[in-house]
Amino acid sequence: MIETVIAPGPEALGLDRIDPTLDLEREIERLRRDMNAVILAHYYQDEEIQELADFVGDSLDLSRRAAATQADVIVFCGVRFMAETAKILSPERIVLMPDAEAGCSLEESCPPDAFRIFREKHPDHLALSYINCSAEVKALSDIIVTSSNAETIIDSLPQDQPILFAPDRHLGAYLARKTGRDMLLWPGTCVVHEQFSERELLRLKSKHPEAVISAHPECPEAILCHADHVGSTSAMLKFVTASKDREFIIATEPHLIHQMKKAAPEKTFIPAPGADGTCSCANCPFMELNTLEKLYLCMVNMAPRVEISDALRIAARKPLDRMMELSPPAAANTDTPEPKPGFDPRANVA
Ligand code: 13P
Ligand code: SF4
Repeated sequence: MIETVIAPGPEALGLDRIDPTLDLEREIERLRRDMNAVILAHYYQDEEIQELADFVGDSLDLSRRAAATQADVIVFCGVRFMAETAKILSPERIVLMPDAEAGCSLEESCPPDAFRIFREKHPDHLALSYINCSAEVKALSDIIVTSSNAETIIDSLPQDQPILFAPDRHLGAYLARKTGRDMLLWPGTCVVHEQFSERELLRLKSKHPEAVISAHPECPEAILCHADHVGSTSAMLKFVTASKDREFIIATEPHLIHQMKKAAPEKTFIPAPGADGTCSCANCPFMELNTLEKLYLCMVNMAPRVEISDALRIAARKPLDRMMELSPPAAANTDTPEPKPGFDPRANVA
């Protein structure tokens, strides 16, 4: 495994040395301005991080933002594959992440060497990989997809083109059902979406018969078959905002509900339950490694920092460029101002 995230050095400021009286929000604001940084956050981040971010979005939105930014520094509040993608798409920017350990069970499920062997066994298959994979697996793939563009991309491929899909078998199976394609699936899963319980979902629905179920396609089929709507995190947010219904059961990581409540405060959002009947196990254990303190520290220390060798970056860029070419156009979004240029990164190193 090639290391792509450089951890802070021994001289770095640590959590134990943060002044407890510090106004972290104000300090992060100051650093963002001084560094000419943009803070990008995924919908699964804590509310306080979402509130501080310049832009909150799904994997495709965030990739597009990273590729287009004029900032000198991208502070990526998400997980490693997202920060790596930002670096691949924006190699001249410094890319920081609050916690170097923020991985993903899908990425873990697909070691590059095993994936290489899988590919070699099926040389006639086009390798479509979900963006939730390492830079090395991206480099071994033909096209990257996200949950918001996968169906369009698959539909654009010739009908007789055999496809293999990695690493999420539930998303892959959902796409195979939707597109009518017979795809070879890598057996990875997301630990968060895997734990929703069909039995508990049906119990909840019987108590809220009017509630509309919106689900992420990383959920198993046993959950998706009860959903009224299936889509990426952005699509779920758009769906509940536009819907005339007033009560929703949300089958994905529950931090997305923060943006739903902001967009539609008059509506009710109920997190889908796990096997114990609560949503308590649905927080992503990787996303929740990021905290406000670590966000502040990564900006002070300029680390953890994503560094990718040129060879790996160039190889991983190709399937990402294919994704961008084949994706539906982005909805116009002018809500996020870009930071002003003119920053010396060394000025903020502790
Ligand atoms: P999207 O936000 O692209 O739908 O992906 C969900 C997810 O699991 C990210 O890790
Ligand atoms: Fe990975 Fe699942 Fe967490 Fe997304 S929610 S980062 S797919 S473990």
